[in-house]
Amino acid sequence: MAKVLYIKANPKSNEESRTFRISEHFIKEYKKAHPEDEIIELDLYKENIHFLSKEEIDTIMSEDKYNLKDHPVLKYTFQFVEADKYVIATPMWNLSIPAILKAYFDYVSVTDITFKYTENGAVGLLKNKKAVVIMTTGGEYLTPPFDEWDFASKYATSMLKFFGVEDVSLIAAQRLDIIGEDVEKLVSDAMKEAEQLAKQF
Ligand SMILES: Cc1cc2nc3c(=O)[nH]c(=O)nc-3n(C[C@H](O)[C@H](O)[C@H](O)COP(=O)(O)O)c2cc1C
Repeated sequence: MAKVLYIKANPKSNEESRTFRISEHFIKEYKKAHPEDEIIELDLYKENIHFLSKEEIDTIMSEDKYNLKDHPVLKYTFQFVEADKYVIATPMWNLSIPAILKAYFDYVSVTDITFKYTENGAVGLLKNKKAVVIMTTGGEYLTPPFDEWDFASKYATSMLKFFGVEDVSLIAAQRLDIIGEDVEKLVSDAMKEAEQLAKQF
């Protein structure tokens, strides 16, 4: 039985958010294909996620950290380590991910738990895991000329790889705020893509 950590980074409801329409569809189809798996939903806006304090930095860098599985920050790190698969649902905000998702990555990124430093640089400590990033954007940032400005999917994907998660897919619905676009079609195309991936994820 695999554990799937479903990380949601948007204050909107499932009904309002185009990102969540796609990610909820992915989860629904995933459950059909993998009924035995456990899905853990982590709605970041319902969690007590904030910017790291000095005390928290000291704690997550201390020798004690391995014994602090209930710590307000480290509980998220250990939860991340225990998952086998990750589904990250995020809109692009100001060319990047919402700050709450960055703050969450700051919780998860703990030396000697999710990554370590070696003489050759940083190495991810998570092995045999996979992830999908589900992102929506108002404009178009995955193809030239603005692809250099995508710090959302590139950042989320890079963090996962930094932790050692090599198998990372991306499902994106773009141009959702462009006047004249058939937004329903763009979203439903991404939902179809999500449906296909969910079966083999
Ligand atoms: C605060 C904020 C910042 C945004 N910044 C960008 C941006 O930099 N680039 C872009 O293409 N769309 C941007 N958008 C548009 C959203 O990415 C787009 O509408 C997305 O589909 C919203 O997802 P949702 O329907 O799940 O909320 C922004 C939207 C908000 C609310």
